[in-house]
Amino acid sequence: MKKIAVLTSGGDSPGMNAAIRSVVRKSIYEGYEVYGVYQGFQGLINDNIEKLELGDVGDIIQRGGTKLFSARCPEFIEAGVRQKGLENLKKYGIDSLVVIGGDGSYRGAQRLNEEGINTIGVPGTIDNDINGTDFTIGFDTALNTVVDAVDRIRDTATSHERTFIIEVMGRDAGDLALWAGLAGGAETILIPEAAADIKAVAERIETGMNRGKKHSIIIVAEGVMSAQECGMELRKYINVDTRESVLGHMQRGGKPTGNDRVLASRLGALAVDLLKDGVSGCAVGIENNKLVETKFDKIFDEKHQIDRALYKLSQELSI
Ligand code: F6P
Repeated sequence: MKKIAVLTSGGDSPGMNAAIRSVVRKSIYEGYEVYGVYQGFQGLINDNIEKLELGDVGDIIQRGGTKLFSARCPEFIEAGVRQKGLENLKKYGIDSLVVIGGDGSYRGAQRLNEEGINTIGVPGTIDNDINGTDFTIGFDTALNTVVDAVDRIRDTATSHERTFIIEVMGRDAGDLALWAGLAGGAETILIPEAAADIKAVAERIETGMNRGKKHSIIIVAEGVMSAQECGMELRKYINVDTRESVLGHMQRGGKPTGNDRVLASRLGALAVDLLKDGVSGCAVGIENNKLVETKFDKIFDEKHQIDRALYKLSQELSI
């Protein structure tokens, strides 16, 4: 009988639980045994592995975080460390592994695949920064969390006629900042994929003020600079009363949106289908609303790109 293990790795994201549930239930549906690895690759090394049954994934589809816990495990890059994980999997007779996580987790997954474990990646990160999928699990929820925060901040920004600088997560990618900025009607969106011209931002704020505009919202992706730095830079060019707001890890929590739950359910099940068909060494994703799989090599080949048309639109609408 095929034995499949599942783990979550790297920064958690809302919808990871829905993905775990899907992998577990689909595996059992197909007649396979399924194991949960706790604490990501760290748990693989430490033999923190447990057989899962249908009931173990009940009542989790609506929960944020990950039932299997997560960890960052940079030492997994070392062959000697990975060997321990491989031995543990072999001990249980596990030949297949589903890794739910981001880019870094995929690299560990790829290595394991090369070393004989049939491995599939499932994109789980709020950053939306992985090639081979239009959307990652957790992005939609984080987007809605940020938009809600922006709406609230806008209320007080209006009351006090202030400029707010809101720092958004995303690591080196600007997707979350871009989408949230567009959805939240931000006057300025600063993302790593477009050079930040703070002088131009200051000029725009000034023009707005002269036009009678009372407040301004700047969304800055953490990959560009911190909100604090952005405020300091801005005040070099303009005398403006700013407040900085760092949204931080609240962006990673909360119950997943319906979209994230559906995406997680589809991708988790697809991972099991691929393993059933003897396909591995790739990650699942959704492109143009079609489920796809992409070889790990291809995913790492190119740097993730933002949607340029969306960025252009955000510029056009924030005049
Ligand atoms: O990758 C998800 C993410 O939340 C990034 O947006 C952020 O840069 C990073 O993780 C924070 O990591 P940690 O929780 O380890 O501080």
